Amino acid sequence: MAEKKNLRVLSGIQPSGVLHLGNYFGMMSRMIRYQDENELFCFIANYHALTTLPDPGILSSNTFNAACDFLALGMDPEKSTFWVQSDVPQVTELTWILSSQAGVGLMDRATSYKDKISQGLKPNMGLYSYPLLMAADILLFDSQIVPVGKDQKQHLEMTRDIAIRFNNTFGDTLVVPEPDIEEITQLVPGTDGQKMSKSYNNTIPIFHSHKQIRKKIMRIVTDATDIDKPKDKDTPLFQLYSLFLDSSGQKDLSDRYEGKGLRYGDVKQELFEKMMDYFQPYREKRKTLMSRPRQVHDILKAGAKKAKRIAEEVLDRVQAAVGVGYL
Ligand code: ADP
Ligand code: TRP
Repeated sequence: MAEKKNLRVLSGIQPSGVLHLGNYFGMMSRMIRYQDENELFCFIANYHALTTLPDPGILSSNTFNAACDFLALGMDPEKSTFWVQSDVPQVTELTWILSSQAGVGLMDRATSYKDKISQGLKPNMGLYSYPLLMAADILLFDSQIVPVGKDQKQHLEMTRDIAIRFNNTFGDTLVVPEPDIEEITQLVPGTDGQKMSKSYNNTIPIFHSHKQIRKKIMRIVTDATDIDKPKDKDTPLFQLYSLFLDSSGQKDLSDRYEGKGLRYGDVKQELFEKMMDYFQPYREKRKTLMSRPRQVHDILKAGAKKAKRIAEEVLDRVQAAVGVGYL
């Protein structure tokens, strides 16, 4: 990753539910790894979550939980800038400016809006404008790299489109970002083999109790291949277990799948133990953070202050470019 040194990396996550392995391997762990050699900006997208979560108690407690998740998993507020989206209100101003440029045709092509409506969500304007708020999140910080899972690819393309058009119209003002989507973790499967997603009720949550996690792992779909026949590796159990293994561990697992005598029940138990060991230190750290809401609050407020300095600078530049202001 040496070629990506000293870049400004930004990503966000909606506080809309319980963190699962797809979120972790799809974007969080990669993002956290960036913080040693790059300038990392990370925020909790509570305004995005508001488009689908009309319960104030749940939204605010999810926001706190998401902050504890990130901090426990290694987000270091000394090295990085970590805040809650609504604490930097410049983002909504930039959204408005961008919305005055973005064509309705572009917005109509957003598949995530259509998906959400087809899942039965109420078609509100926030849901429709979601990609514009996301573009503002990214462009407000001159972000160069945006680590996300594959499902966010179209939003990144829209952001690039918006920035390029803006620059063509008003002169070079916005930094055009690059998505960072990793081949092997771009689509972590859920227990049923579809994309792991809280909308499909097929997740393996990271911080649930041992008992709950074991139950979910035991539910991973497998086939009825005879014990003495080679097993299919293009399956969720194989893929999920591989996420926790280094290359030699993956080779061993692959050999076992190709050989005789493999029992899916044993593999599930191993995956369960591996996952619990992997997350144990993070679970402890999270428990401590959850018991210190004041400390978490202070970290987020300090992060917002740092983020605001850049947001104000970029917004000034954008306002000057479009002519918002007067002598
Ligand atoms: P969900 O699909 O459960 O609602 P989110 O949309 O909140 O998850 O996703 C948060 C982040 O995690 C995004 O960057 C998304 O791309 C990533 N992500 C979510 N699910 C997966 C998955 N199954 N595989 C890879 N990345 C994922
Ligand atoms: N839409 C993203 C998701 O659902 C969350 C998000 C909001 C985001 N703003 C962002 C991700 C900016 C990257 C950059 O996962």
